[in-house]
Amino acid sequence: MAEKAQKIVGVKGMNDLLPATSYQWLWLEDKLRVWLSQYGYENIRTPILENTQLFTRSIGEVTDIVEKEMYSFIDSLNGDALTLRPEGTAGTIRAVVEHNLLYNANQKLWYIGPMFRHERPQKGRYRQFHQLGVEALGFKGPDVDCEIILMLNHLWQILGLSGVELQINCLGNKDERLAHREALIAYFEQHQELLDEEAKRRLHTNPLRILDTKNPAMQELVGNAPKLLAYLGEQSQAHYTGWKAGLDALKIAYVENPRLVRGLDYYNLSVFEWVSSDLGSQSTVCGGGRYDPLVAELSGKENYAIGFAIGLERLLLSLEAQNKLIIKPACDIYIVNDGVGAAEMAFNLAQELRTLGYKVIQHLGGGSFKSQFKKADSYGARLSLVIGENEVKLNQVVLKLMAEQKQELIAHTQLSQYVTNFFNS
Ligand code: HAM
Repeated sequence: MAEKAQKIVGVKGMNDLLPATSYQWLWLEDKLRVWLSQYGYENIRTPILENTQLFTRSIGEVTDIVEKEMYSFIDSLNGDALTLRPEGTAGTIRAVVEHNLLYNANQKLWYIGPMFRHERPQKGRYRQFHQLGVEALGFKGPDVDCEIILMLNHLWQILGLSGVELQINCLGNKDERLAHREALIAYFEQHQELLDEEAKRRLHTNPLRILDTKNPAMQELVGNAPKLLAYLGEQSQAHYTGWKAGLDALKIAYVENPRLVRGLDYYNLSVFEWVSSDLGSQSTVCGGGRYDPLVAELSGKENYAIGFAIGLERLLLSLEAQNKLIIKPACDIYIVNDGVGAAEMAFNLAQELRTLGYKVIQHLGGGSFKSQFKKADSYGARLSLVIGENEVKLNQVVLKLMAEQKQELIAHTQLSQYVTNFFNS
């Protein structure tokens, strides 16, 4: 006897999206597309695989993502070092530069798709997850910084999402961060005995990330550490003040969080995160900021850039927690059919009604009327059309109003009018 084949399952942390929830994704994606076009954003689609160097150079060598979360491999066919994209900004800028899209032009771009990070999976954190990303390129700000926040605030309104807090910070420029970094190292060195292992490791590589620590024993130390804001020069201060004044004028509430540093190295000036109260530990629904230096790094020319990405799983989880997801769309009409000529008539009527715009499911595969009505119920049909041999002969149908538990006999010639009246009433 052949051995039973071992079941092959999906990769840990990478989820299948099944019909039980995929309709929610389609609904959300439709809303997102309309919203993005209202602000003049255009779609860009870049490959899921990029040369590894793109990410090490842009996200930064000593970030968590590059140090331990990237799916990197050598292509055995040609020796290329490749990586499954952990985020969408680097690939977008690579494509924009490669195709010269910033030559005498601005760009407002969006993308949607899977991203890959080898993290420990838990609720709201996956190894394959999906982002909706937006990148506004060539705008100096801070007006665009305000519009980016305005549009996100608008999205939460469109979706009916509440309880998302906007946290903002200003990361200044490279020199300012360097001066702050030195002050931070000096401060933490003075308090070596209070640092945990992770912080000691980061002290001379990425001391800013120490500020992000979740270790309760280090909170006081971190709370008293030198603040970057104190090291900002006039221009950075002005950018930050302009951004905040814009948000005040738009009446958008925010919390200044001087410890907000983001997990990617490419940012400067404005950074922000939207944090949901419904998500537990993985609570950041959306993160982003200005990253002017990345465009220069990848193109060799100074330019301006700001953007964000929304974690779509997290957004859907928060919407679910607040009961804001649509219920599964039902079908309008189910066509029950049995007997000689019934299937043919059903095909014709189904097409006739679909042409009018209705969602029609024709029963396939036979079976008793009773079992077919059960199917109609499970699809949530509001009307069932019943076609048996008699109906075929007389060119008529029995129409069953499912919720009303009523039945009517209708001539084929009157069907379209009847159905239209029923759904319009
Ligand atoms: P990020 O903060 O690394 O930024 O990711 C943005 C969002 O993606 C997070 O706030 C979160 O909602 C979601 N996310 C990240 N990792 C996971 C995960 N493992 N599982 C589920 N969701 C996750 C960026 O990626 C930047 N590229 C954003 C950006 C665009 N900045 C400027 N332009």
